[in-house]
Amino acid sequence: MIRNIDISRAMTVKLENTFARLPKMPEFVAGVRRAPKRKFALSPQDTQLALKNALRYIPEKWHKRLAPEFLNELIQTGRIYGYRFRPAGSIQGRPIDAYKGNCVEGQAFQVMIDNNLDLDVALYPYELVTYGETGQVCQNWMQYRLIKQYLEIITRDQTLVVASGHPLGLFESTPEAPRVIITNALMIGLFDDQENWHKAAALGVANYGQMTAGGWMYIGPQGIVHGTYSTLLNAGRLKLNIPADSDLRGYLFVSSGLGGMSGAQGKAVEIASGVGIIAEVDHSRIQTRHEQGWVNRVVDDPAEAFRLAKEYQAKKESLSIAFHGNIVDLLEYAVENKIFIDLLSDQTSCHVAYDGGYCPQGLTFEERTRLLKTDHVKFKECINRSLRHHYELIKTLVDRGVYFFDYGNSFMQAVFDAGVTEICKSGKTPEHGFIFPSYVEDIMGPLLFDYGYGPFRWVCLSGKQADLLKTDRAALECIDPNRRIQDRDTYAWIKDAGNHHLVVGTLARILYQDAAGRMNIALKFNEMVRNGHIGPVMLGRDHHDTGGTDSPLRETANIKDGSNIMADMATQCFAGNAARGMSLVALHNGGGVGIGKAVNGGFGLVLDGSARVDDIIRRAIPWDVMGGVARRAWARNEHSIETVIKHNKKRKGVDHITLPFIADEKLVEDLVADAFKK
Ligand SMILES: NC(=O)c1ccc[n+]([C@@H]2O[C@H](COP(=O)([O-])OP(=O)(O)OC[C@H]3O[C@@H](n4cnc5c(N)ncnc54)[C@H](O)[C@@H]3O)[C@@H](O)[C@H]2O)c1
Repeated sequence: MIRNIDISRAMTVKLENTFARLPKMPEFVAGVRRAPKRKFALSPQDTQLALKNALRYIPEKWHKRLAPEFLNELIQTGRIYGYRFRPAGSIQGRPIDAYKGNCVEGQAFQVMIDNNLDLDVALYPYELVTYGETGQVCQNWMQYRLIKQYLEIITRDQTLVVASGHPLGLFESTPEAPRVIITNALMIGLFDDQENWHKAAALGVANYGQMTAGGWMYIGPQGIVHGTYSTLLNAGRLKLNIPADSDLRGYLFVSSGLGGMSGAQGKAVEIASGVGIIAEVDHSRIQTRHEQGWVNRVVDDPAEAFRLAKEYQAKKESLSIAFHGNIVDLLEYAVENKIFIDLLSDQTSCHVAYDGGYCPQGLTFEERTRLLKTDHVKFKECINRSLRHHYELIKTLVDRGVYFFDYGNSFMQAVFDAGVTEICKSGKTPEHGFIFPSYVEDIMGPLLFDYGYGPFRWVCLSGKQADLLKTDRAALECIDPNRRIQDRDTYAWIKDAGNHHLVVGTLARILYQDAAGRMNIALKFNEMVRNGHIGPVMLGRDHHDTGGTDSPLRETANIKDGSNIMADMATQCFAGNAARGMSLVALHNGGGVGIGKAVNGGFGLVLDGSARVDDIIRRAIPWDVMGGVARRAWARNEHSIETVIKHNKKRKGVDHITLPFIADEKLVEDLVADAFKK
């Protein structure tokens, strides 16, 4: 019989290292957002299993005390977070030197994790949710504590394995291997659905990593401001005939959500010089964005919101307005009063509509939270009713000439789930897509991802403002604004980035570049670290990128060869990055669209100034991007084919990418028509 005392003796990394005595329950700061109750539908037997699972982290001497506490957490919140083990007070990504470690990577990842849990950065910090309603760093505070211990002792000859938030352990590897390999919620196909996900999460065996939350690479909503800015500008170019060298001056953008990613919308429309009205039901989120200066005005009357918008549109001045209320009420007002909107979208968390991501019309945010806890069936009915009405309003506006696009939040899927089959192109099922365009399918896919342009980011780990300024300037020098329109947009962005006060949490920056652009910037930064001009830097990207994500409803929506139901690209990207020595690699199920609907991955690369890191940059960064461009080219995407032709020429003898021959449409069409006639 194995005894717990032997188990404890067999481990040097354990909670007892941090706590001689059971820690006190930390105080919850008033006003900090708390996650709503998650679905809890475990049988009594599975509830026992969930308790035993959580107690695996806990020394036996505390079991009697903690078993009832964990059971209470599970019943009250739907999950066991182990609140007691959260560090008291605030958590912040501090300068790297403040962390213990045997290698710079171990210290660097502690900065990133703490930033993801900062009270000012995270959506529900006490529940370890960074953004996107359910995206967690790991499942519970016991895991957090153990991960931190591992990162303090990890050496360059070891790799930490983190499976759905659980630190499986340290294993011998090499300095050229990743220091951390993360997977989140990778479920077996047969069970890869929302119901099984809820069960696995309540049992404590699955973590929803979203994209950068579980990959420890979130940098606050700035990470998304640039993408939103690009999307809005390009939507304007595509649909409002705005010239390439102009912006959204005089145009109105309406959307919803001022949360983790959606919080970027107000700032992005302002940077693009337009006017935006963003509806948000949760006043605390409006307050956060207002204090940050990411929205200029706050109103709670739709008439006042549209009046202000009209005034600023006429003056051709930019303004971002937060409307405190439901997006459906705002659109109802626009329809009834025949107000014209130029660009329309939605960024409620519809990928988890029934779990609190979408607030139904008719309920305040507080009422929604209560109903979610007390009557899930009624809550679901309210959501379905609201989504159906929401859809009708959008349809009316689109008929009047408004350009509506889905913002990758599974809005159209949610409308379909609410019973509206006419939102499907086929009128029956979503298999062939939906009637409204999605921002990746129409805009980001063809104009950015197909060339390899994607969200490249970095964090100045020293915590010094001067380092951020120096890296901004260095990045600017690496970009030729005359190369392509995408470069001009990025050049304009980075030139003024410092003035837009975009940083929330650690000192970070984002910009969009292609394979060569990203590699050049990375090499430049590593040289600056080597020369002592700046401290170490963490490079990374959003998973939402050229090659990092397979998601037919979003990132791979513009892949039309039938392969967008496959997850080979994201998996190859992850494996290839590991093989080429990125410091961290992550692969997740779900992301922004929900369980079973996407596989997405990302990386972290710590720039320590060494020649070893120069080599990793040269082999891994081009792979990370070009693997995605290669797959897009194989899917016959024109801009990717152009990009690969140039790449094969430039990298002759080093890389070689297979290109598709293009079949004659008529030849194929006639042949198939004949065959089916027979
Ligand atoms: N910004 C991007 O580039 C991007 C890209 C892809 C996907 N998304 C998707 O956008 C969604 C939002 O992401 P997030 O991180 O901001 O999530 P979030 O949950 O932090 O924020 C969503 C916000 O919407 C508000 N809201 C919900 N229902 C509302 C309603 N009916 N009216 C007004 N406000 C309402 C919520 O209170 C919340 O603040 C997610 O589904 C995400 O996957 C965003």
